[in-house]
Amino acid sequence: MTVLIIGSGAREHTISCAYEKSPQVGKIIVAPGNDFIKYHRQKEVLTDNRCGLKDPESILDIARKYKPDIVDVAQDDALALGTVDLLTENGFRVFGATRKASRIEWDKRWSREFMRKYDIPAPGFRYFDSEKGAEEYAESLYDNEPGKLVFVKASGLCAGKGALKATNVVEAIEKIKQMKKFGEAGRVFLIEDGLRGEEFSVYAISDGNAYYIFKSAQDNKTVSNFDEGAQTGGMGAISPAIVTRNIATEVEDRLISKAIEGMDKEGAPYSGILYLGGVVVDGRPMNIEYNARWGDPECQVVLPGVETDYVDIVTAVIENRLGEVDIREDDKARVCVVGASRGYPGDYSDVKGKRIFGLEEAMNMEGVTIYGAGVAVDGTNFYANGGRLFSVVAEGADILEAKRKAYCAIAHVNIEGNNLHYRTDIGWRDVERYLKSVS
Ligand code: GLY
Repeated sequence: MTVLIIGSGAREHTISCAYEKSPQVGKIIVAPGNDFIKYHRQKEVLTDNRCGLKDPESILDIARKYKPDIVDVAQDDALALGTVDLLTENGFRVFGATRKASRIEWDKRWSREFMRKYDIPAPGFRYFDSEKGAEEYAESLYDNEPGKLVFVKASGLCAGKGALKATNVVEAIEKIKQMKKFGEAGRVFLIEDGLRGEEFSVYAISDGNAYYIFKSAQDNKTVSNFDEGAQTGGMGAISPAIVTRNIATEVEDRLISKAIEGMDKEGAPYSGILYLGGVVVDGRPMNIEYNARWGDPECQVVLPGVETDYVDIVTAVIENRLGEVDIREDDKARVCVVGASRGYPGDYSDVKGKRIFGLEEAMNMEGVTIYGAGVAVDGTNFYANGGRLFSVVAEGADILEAKRKAYCAIAHVNIEGNNLHYRTDIGWRDVERYLKSVS
């Protein structure tokens, strides 16, 4: 089989490895992809950057060129712009949510109204299309409740950076004004009640009817340790996360099955990966957001643990018979530490083109895998070519082992001029919990 994966980051690298493990797959194309995806592969893996993720017609051209047996549309812009619909209409077998189904991610106002309609636990919100109305609302909020946590959130897609936190009226008004920088995505925006608690991510795969929920994960979204600093696309992840058996039952009953049933009732059956970004408030899970794809970097710690042939799972989704597949996962823990250019998510332009040292050593360590994002490859030399550069993922029997291996591995890596940045606290909560549980 030939598989075409649409996307360009470490998530798509991870997805390509899941397909590579399948004995049914001979060739993989990742479009646009990145250099590192092709490095040291067991099977034929190509990238083709002659397409744009916001240009479904260009993706159709790529599909026509390679004639894949399966197309996996993994990236949010491509999903939002109807790539799945276009490819399906043109006779391809496609895995991913349709434009209508992926609205659960690309229209956050609609998504919150959907949650309200189907009684899915989620924060209170109001939406606005003018600064004036929003500012008046913020003033009244803080008159009633000084110190309140709120999120000002663009309704459209903003590469994971569209939710801005405020805890006083000055900050809230500043964040409202920042919505402009998101252009059309920030034209309509929400002011949501902030939920205080520990966050988690859960992924369900669904054919619109049957679904399976994978092991939980936790993303670390801010640039600095202890959740400080600016929002990023994700600086690290662990799996499994805080989701205990009781929380998992509630997640399934109140947040996943209701969403899948609701989407069906809305005439948008949900086929693909449904990503729940959740938070545990007073021991109970609530929704922060739904997305229509694997998360990055959570995919890097969840998908490698899936033991069932991924082609069998994806094919069953495409053929609406997911209920027939016995999905198995291993019981390992995984930790992902993202290596970024110093300066990210701000200006990191002076890091571009600098040599990255030590990746090869890190990737040769037992139980360690490196997934590439912004790494340019020239022969056996690697160069920084982006903000988030690579994900170091380590597996272990428990969180302690996985964390130790991940940090041993990334300790081998550096960038010319001391330009590598990574968080050093990924997994700290789980280590604390683990140590308490064994003491
Ligand atoms: N991990 C955050 C995201 O993929 O949106």
